[in-house]
Amino acid sequence: MCGIVGYIGHRDAYPIIMKGLQRLEYRGYDSAGVALFDGEKINLTKTKGKVEDLRNKAETKMSLKGSLGIGHTRWATHGVPNDVNSHPHYSNSGNLVIIHNGIIENYESIKKELIKRGYHFDSDTDTEVLVNLIEEVQRTEHVKLGQAVQIALNQVVGAYAIAVFDIDKPDEIVVAKLGSPLAIGIGDKEFFIASDASPFIEFTNNAVYLEDEEMAIVRLGKEIKLRKIKDDAIAYPNILELQLNLEEIEKGGYDHFMLKEIYEQPRAIKDTYRGRLLADQGLITMAGIDQNLEKFLNANRIIIVACGTSWHAGLVAEYIFEDLARIPVEVEYASEFRYRNPIITDKDILIAISQSGETADTLAAIKLAKEKGAFVFGVCNVVGSSIARETDAGAYTHAGPEIGVASTKAFTTQITVLTLIALKLAKEKGIFSGSQYHEFLSELETIPTKVEIALRTNDMVREIAEIYKDSPNCLYLGRGYNFPVALEGALKLKEISYIHAEGYPAAEMKHGPIALIDEHMPVIIIATKKGHYEKVVSNIQEIKSRKGKIIAIVTEGDTQVRELADHVVEVPETMECLTPMLTTIPLQLLSYHIAVMRGCNVDQPRNLAKSVTVE
Ligand code: AGP
Repeated sequence: MCGIVGYIGHRDAYPIIMKGLQRLEYRGYDSAGVALFDGEKINLTKTKGKVEDLRNKAETKMSLKGSLGIGHTRWATHGVPNDVNSHPHYSNSGNLVIIHNGIIENYESIKKELIKRGYHFDSDTDTEVLVNLIEEVQRTEHVKLGQAVQIALNQVVGAYAIAVFDIDKPDEIVVAKLGSPLAIGIGDKEFFIASDASPFIEFTNNAVYLEDEEMAIVRLGKEIKLRKIKDDAIAYPNILELQLNLEEIEKGGYDHFMLKEIYEQPRAIKDTYRGRLLADQGLITMAGIDQNLEKFLNANRIIIVACGTSWHAGLVAEYIFEDLARIPVEVEYASEFRYRNPIITDKDILIAISQSGETADTLAAIKLAKEKGAFVFGVCNVVGSSIARETDAGAYTHAGPEIGVASTKAFTTQITVLTLIALKLAKEKGIFSGSQYHEFLSELETIPTKVEIALRTNDMVREIAEIYKDSPNCLYLGRGYNFPVALEGALKLKEISYIHAEGYPAAEMKHGPIALIDEHMPVIIIATKKGHYEKVVSNIQEIKSRKGKIIAIVTEGDTQVRELADHVVEVPETMECLTPMLTTIPLQLLSYHIAVMRGCNVDQPRNLAKSVTVE
């Protein structure tokens, strides 16, 4: 996710844009830029770093005059964070300047065509391609900016919220939206453009939120004109009177970033497989794998190193890779791996999983593996992070910034990437027939919708949280693919509510932990239909006979567990290997609600940091 801000009106644009960017930094903060039209030319500054770095640079480098301007704070998806990849981007002529939040999937083919037509590119971004496509349409079709944007957007595939202006037409900004948010603040003889209302709520609470495939020409002294990008039909603006305050807006109306990020998971999973999972073509394409396929197919084993929640995602991957791709996998805590003098050869592949891309132990494990000749593949959420730069290849999760210290969307998007890799390798090894493969790909495409359905258990989970919020201890149990989910559920609860919780393989109960069961012990057990269901049912009976309180996560329509458990939370049915992305949802919600009820600081729990960059 990135943050975009624009202004056209009677005030100085610069202070409005800069304050607006600061309010949007939660959306992305690896680089930033601002472009102002001073009546004659565009003054533009952009830089790697935060908005404050941009302010320092702009205020020493350029004129800050002008009442037309756009600004951007970046969360890199294409091209590492650096000055040249930062937005805004000029077109080749220098007449157009654009900011963009989203991903243009077919930018490479468009770029090739534009290069053939004599265009050059300074950055690695999809956005610079888009602004030059718009310019090329203007040049060849002899149309104004609005029409050129519309024609160009009908040629791109992907997601966008863009704002673009032309110095030949400095009384307007053209905006368009598909998949990424874009709001227009309507003031008195002035307009504001932003990813959400936080940059303009102090100036006006009248706003229009563009719908997908809508664009608008925002022109001074005129009413906003909306139109449909695809068929040019006029759309009528639905002007809202916002009642939100600033803090609520930054959290998207949620009480905490963690809850917002739990609810972002359908979008985050979809963004993570966007452009990679082509189910209708029966394809998975991932550059980092495609370019190193032989290494993966000929590897002796895969070693996965990570910490915390990322380590749990690695455990899920172990089940997926061994079950589906028949590749030996070892999962290691990075902090242990780096010091135990492990045996590593050049026939090993090390997969490092890290949301932040800055976890010191994981980074050290990577360096150790590289010294010993292993090929290292990274799964990170932060483009250009230390781990992303240290690995030989990788695949980003496109979860967007994860602000809450407790990892949620990182977990499900990491599993998404690892599932794509395992499925691709299984297909390349000929383990699946074409139809089986297609079945997996099609089911994976249904997961965002099934996560949406799992999120509807929120009210029920909140009621359960109310009952157990004062429990001193909790046990989480799962089998097979859902054993790591039990560990993850326990970690979520302990790290934000400070209740002691432990995750165990369900069958492990009788080897000791069952001694803990009594009427005061809530046991959260994952009992989905797929994977040893009958054995989990007998585990439930063992707990019930000792008066344990049973909260069961089951497949929708389950009747057998419903007879035994004290509480039952249903998630949609899916393939066994895909259940973790669904069963984790009620566990995230349970830990969230219990922590809130206990008055804990959900987004910044005590003693914790979002990224553990020290040993
Ligand atoms: C998970 O909720 C915690 N925030 C923590 O365990 C985290 O997963 C761990 O520190 C690893 O962080 P990384 O994914 O950024 O490497």
